[in-house]
Amino acid sequence: ASVQEIPERLLGWYDNHARSLPWRAPPGLPAPDPYRVWLSEVMLQQTTVAAVQAYFAKFTQRWPTVMDLAAADDADVMSAWAGLGYYARARNLLACARAIAARGGAFPDTEAELRALPGLGDYTAAAVAAIAFGRRAVVIDANVERVVARLFAIDTPLPAGRKAIRDAADHITPDDRSGDFAQAMMDLGSAICTSRSPHCLLCPLSAACRGKEAPERYPVKPAKKAK
Ligand code: ADE
Repeated sequence: ASVQEIPERLLGWYDNHARSLPWRAPPGLPAPDPYRVWLSEVMLQQTTVAAVQAYFAKFTQRWPTVMDLAAADDADVMSAWAGLGYYARARNLLACARAIAARGGAFPDTEAELRALPGLGDYTAAAVAAIAFGRRAVVIDANVERVVARLFAIDTPLPAGRKAIRDAADHITPDDRSGDFAQAMMDLGSAICTSRSPHCLLCPLSAACRGKEAPERYPVKPAKKAK
């Protein structure tokens, strides 16, 4: 199996195995609400999917649209965020909601414009562009990094290896369904290509994977400094 087959195989797997998460559109339906995608991706930056779910439900019930969130009291948002940690995220969340409200309530739909908003780094801007707007974007979180490092047996230790990982991820990202592709990589990393004891026998990409003989080697960690 070749590199060209990776997107098709992965998307085929995702069609049957995608996690059903409240911020995703059900398979086959149009893209989800950008507000919900943005909110979930900000929450997921340093927090697990399991921990985010209750907070996501609470925020979207209390503030169903970005205009509602923009109009909220700072103290209410900060206390609703309590427990998620990294409070700079909550402050940026409000600043971003208010920037969107000032534009009439519509999120910009390109990665570059999203990147300029408060609290949106490379990862979040790419994720929202791809997932909410169907833009081709290279979305790399820790799960994706591990999957790609294994697929291509990338030997360069982190952090230098991130350049090769990004280039390889770019190479396999399809023009169509790039949001599904990104989320499929995340789901594969979370369910199959796990950091310890990956389930290569269940992996839709094993035929194309160059790292499967020794998956635990990848991504190669930085060399330890001599004392
Ligand atoms: N982690 C960060 N974003 C995610 C998403 N959209 N789906 C699953 N896991 C994620």
